[in-house]
Amino acid sequence: MAYKITLIPGDGIGPEVAEATVRVLEATGLKFEWERFRAGADAYEKYKEYIPQELIESIERNRVALKGPVTTPIAGGFPSINVALRKRFELYANFRPIRNLPHVPTRYPDVDLIVIRENTEGLYSGIEHEVVPGVVESLKIITEKASTRIARFAFAYARKHKRRKIHAIHKANIMKLSDGLFLRCSRNVAKEYPEITYGEHIVDNTCMQLVTNPYQYDMLLLENLYGDIISDLCAAFVGGLGLVPGANMGDHCAIFEAVHGSAPDIAGKNIANPTALIRSALLMLRHLGEMEAALRVRSALEAVYRQKEKLTRDMGGKASTAEFADSVIAAMPSPAMSETAAQPAT
Ligand code: NAI
Repeated sequence: MAYKITLIPGDGIGPEVAEATVRVLEATGLKFEWERFRAGADAYEKYKEYIPQELIESIERNRVALKGPVTTPIAGGFPSINVALRKRFELYANFRPIRNLPHVPTRYPDVDLIVIRENTEGLYSGIEHEVVPGVVESLKIITEKASTRIARFAFAYARKHKRRKIHAIHKANIMKLSDGLFLRCSRNVAKEYPEITYGEHIVDNTCMQLVTNPYQYDMLLLENLYGDIISDLCAAFVGGLGLVPGANMGDHCAIFEAVHGSAPDIAGKNIANPTALIRSALLMLRHLGEMEAALRVRSALEAVYRQKEKLTRDMGGKASTAEFADSVIAAMPSPAMSETAAQPAT
């Protein structure tokens, strides 16, 4: 049986890291049928739509997509494709595990932090207008429904994976109503999970606390904007944006994509690090129930990270994006050799 997956290579470094990831996935021996679609400015040229209807229908059918980054114009132009897809498919939970890869020297070893970001509302509702020239209004929408839903996702994950603590991150001292509601919903859900320690920290203090001692946190639960910012900060703990995977999860479908963007500064040079998208694909394999294949991809990645010269430039190596993928494929253990590994495969 072949898995039908919607593939959005994206733009900038997207097509380079997506191609590398597809090759690594196919080297597992699993069968995939990729339904490829452009999105954003690239799609507009062909379809006169930023998110083609065929792409929407493909995700509705397949319920699983792998996505490269898509550029969003700054201070004008079309709205974010990423935000639009998350809203369209109610992918309310953005899941970003922050874990070190062995042999990547970082300021903090053995980080194991899960960032859970509410993905559908907050300031990303995109409701803004100019009241009068020189005055604009941007609305932050926080609802009881979405706040309770994301808190439930976080606590259910914590229970299932035996995590210890969840901190809700907020600015309810200033945004008393909106962040206050987010906190009330988190507290209510926390009561159903007495075995998980629940804490609350103000977002600015959280930045300082994280940089001082990231080990004090286990899981972070955040509304949309804080989650976006804090997850990039956390990426730096484990070696940068080239390494950190992500998943956008809903009740009906899921889109797997790296935390990083389209990196226009290095696009088209075949030097981007595909690790973050490969690790996102690894989350996809686990979502599909392909635990053994996920472990083999992780094992191959770790084997390559043992040899510095095979790494991409951001990791101090000289390999191109394609050469890095070649090394991961060459290091892929056969199915029988991977059965001993037992840790989470990210
Ligand atoms: P970015 O993540 O694209 O780049 C930030 C820095 O990290 C750059 O120096 C870049 O070279 C480096 N970097 C990122 N990914 C890398 C990789 N795989 N390998 C090596 N180095 C890597 O963030 P930026 O510049 O703020 O955003 C660029 C565009 O991407 C914007 O249009 C933004 O809206 C979009 N974006 C899209 C996302 C998505 O599609 N999910 C997520 C974040 C940003």
